[in-house]
Amino acid sequence: MKTRLVLLVCLISILSCQTSSTPVLNEPGKAEYSESHLKFEKWGRTSNCCTAIGAKAAIASGGTYSSKAGIEILKTGGNVVDAAIATAFVLSVERPHSAGLGGGGFMTLYLKDQKPRAHFIDFRETAPEKASRDMYLDKKGEVIPDLSVVGPLSVATPGFVVGLYEIHKRWGKLPWKKLLTPAVELAFRGFKIYPSLAEHIIEKKDCLLKDPDATKLLFREGEPLREGELLVQKDLANTLRRVAINGSQEVKTGKTARDILRYMKAHQGILTEKDLKNYRVKYRQPILGKFKDLEFISAPPPSAGGVLILQMLKVLEEFSILELSQKTPEYTHLLSEVLKRAYADRSQFVGDPDFVKHDFSKLISDRYIEAIRKNISLTKATPASEIHGGELMDDKTHTTHLSVMDVEGNAVASTLTINDIFGACAIAPGTGIFLNDEMDDFSAKPGASNIYGLTGNKANAIEPFKRPASSMSPTLLVKEGQPILVVGAAGGSRITTSVFQVLMNDLFVFKGDLKRSIFAPRLHQQWAPEFLDLEEGYSDLTKQSLEMMGEKVRKAPWSAVTQATHLESDGKVKAVFDPRDEGGAEAY
Ligand code: GLY
Repeated sequence: MKTRLVLLVCLISILSCQTSSTPVLNEPGKAEYSESHLKFEKWGRTSNCCTAIGAKAAIASGGTYSSKAGIEILKTGGNVVDAAIATAFVLSVERPHSAGLGGGGFMTLYLKDQKPRAHFIDFRETAPEKASRDMYLDKKGEVIPDLSVVGPLSVATPGFVVGLYEIHKRWGKLPWKKLLTPAVELAFRGFKIYPSLAEHIIEKKDCLLKDPDATKLLFREGEPLREGELLVQKDLANTLRRVAINGSQEVKTGKTARDILRYMKAHQGILTEKDLKNYRVKYRQPILGKFKDLEFISAPPPSAGGVLILQMLKVLEEFSILELSQKTPEYTHLLSEVLKRAYADRSQFVGDPDFVKHDFSKLISDRYIEAIRKNISLTKATPASEIHGGELMDDKTHTTHLSVMDVEGNAVASTLTINDIFGACAIAPGTGIFLNDEMDDFSAKPGASNIYGLTGNKANAIEPFKRPASSMSPTLLVKEGQPILVVGAAGGSRITTSVFQVLMNDLFVFKGDLKRSIFAPRLHQQWAPEFLDLEEGYSDLTKQSLEMMGEKVRKAPWSAVTQATHLESDGKVKAVFDPRDEGGAEAY
């Protein structure tokens, strides 16, 4: 391996001579780091933004108001679970296009005084009873465009409220009503539309204007509300108030449930009273692993996240990562090769474990990991299989994430979603709730790609009451019983690769510097379509070196958005939100 590395370094030196006009953006021997992709000016921020440090607790999320609500709950005696619940409900108001009562999510918990300490709660949306394998295919067996993405047939049974309500019953401390108050207030009071929300309203204008409630909420005289204008969500505020009073019954049998069913009936949807009433939260064993001296805790199937990230970390464990991470082209190439193989496994194996009886532990077994390692060349890209997925969408803020930790050793990572931007592009009338289009995360037929370009197989075929495969990866790293990193992301198939890179950056590249670990440019590779996407910020030298190794490099059309908290070496806790989008970091 060492000889190969020397050869590669020689190759890169030759290349840099041949391209003497190419600016070398980084000092040779230093990890590549740039902030050119972060567009601080768009947000009116500086590069000093996005962090908070405190002696007791920290929280990072995809919303300013959301993180503030969470930290206030902690300051008034709530625990990390209370903070996460309050934050999640404010996110449903502040990011109506990303997550909310019409969707679902995952939560990874670490509670110092519990046995076991690690928990995983799956409140993901579930296929309705009347869903069927071929429901998105025409008579010729072709996928009908958009049927799984827009409108009533794209909607899976939501789990957001039921999930958070049960989590509160088991682990919460403060009263449920108190946790919902900040969300109710923000929805009534309104907030100024921020840049990415304004962009998404314009981007989805055509489909939003077909829905009367979405039109009433987001448009004035046919024109989208603009950045800086006030977004008041009265219907959502009233719904949240009912949820505060009635708990999960509100979305199972209450007025909100009836309103959702009325929408379904009026638009020939298949979601029924029985689906809403019988929704079940799943308490699953998290993916647990060892990486060097750290405990790794993350999302199990139906998420691909935990298995893939652990597989990638284990494969890399035997490479001289420290040496490689200082030499960007080799490091970038190695990461790309590792990601390619992991995503091929995702396509083949990942599905709802209640339906698919794969032994996922095989994908992280020593034998399997060793076979992957042997198959990787440090100087040559391996071509992906001939299966080709679709093109990736030019969107980035599907889904949202929150990370909370306290210095006592408790932590929550939770990723929440309604899938695509504004979900199914439909509000259940009178509720203010955007319904999810999570059905698109199933494989409509083997090899057909979803909105993220992901392909799937039998394992992820549609079946009644099944949960679609996911990329959501709420992840914790624990050292000697103390969480040291809490991380997760929003952004479809890029979630897994981004969480993985933040972990790698924090451990090996920027060594504990969480801000640089999040800010640094990222790559994405998902096997099919066969591209290595690089964010702006990679040097021309790196790109050319990778192309010479056979990588199909292109400019990343978008990147995931990560939120993380970190235990610092002085015992304080830090929160960092990702400047790629709206977010909030708070600590005290
Ligand atoms: N809907 C995005 C995911 O679950 O991966």
